[in-house]
Amino acid sequence: MKKITIAIDGHSSTGKSTAAKQLAKKLNYIYVDTGAMYRAVSYFVLQNRLIENGQVKENELTDHLEDIKIRFENNPDSKNADVYLNNVNIEKEIRTLEVSNIVSRVAEISAVRKKLVQQQQAMGVEKGIVMDGRDIGSVVFPDAELKVFMTAAPEVRATRRYDELIERGDDITFDEVLKNVLERDRIDSSREDSPLIQTEDALLLDTSKMSREAQLEQLEQWARERIPDG
Ligand code: DC
Repeated sequence: MKKITIAIDGHSSTGKSTAAKQLAKKLNYIYVDTGAMYRAVSYFVLQNRLIENGQVKENELTDHLEDIKIRFENNPDSKNADVYLNNVNIEKEIRTLEVSNIVSRVAEISAVRKKLVQQQQAMGVEKGIVMDGRDIGSVVFPDAELKVFMTAAPEVRATRRYDELIERGDDITFDEVLKNVLERDRIDSSREDSPLIQTEDALLLDTSKMSREAQLEQLEQWARERIPDG
């Protein structure tokens, strides 16, 4: 069966990753979480103290980009792909609020975006891929057969993220999480290089009042409509 490329973009904590992962499983496609790649670079920034007073040391980071090797590897326990930075599994480390608080700043840097976009495009040359992020339909795969833009009310998104972090045992308040969600929306949508936008050809999926099952059902229907003989 002919394979297609599926680009899923949208605001943070809309349920993008979960829905995209499940869709990929249903279609037997590869799933790539590009947010994890920006988070991996952010983790590198924290580890190497390339940030001072909230300001990423852009030149130093750019000089170090060659030293940043990111890859995904299947985790047989969770059946998901974990992200590795220089051969170290950092899947858990990249989900902290500490990383979330700086990732939008790191993702603003053009040299970082250039490196990661190249790697993402290489992962998708054979199609049969579901990729989620902020610029997948606009920059990484502008010719994707299916583009979806996911959103939800900020309070709904913050509640989802808060529940996830609390379950992991993090010590945070709902207000901190809501603040982070709103701040990331602002930076992601207003940055100069590849801002988060809904392209004209993207289908809108507002998940504020949708169950995970309903989201998957809708995505699968849109995908099958576009897969020849799907
Ligand atoms: O999807 P996420 O919340 O894990 O993404 C983390 C951050 O990475 C998000 O605030 C913006 C950035 N990002 C991006 O700029 N481009 C992408 N394709 C994916 C994520």
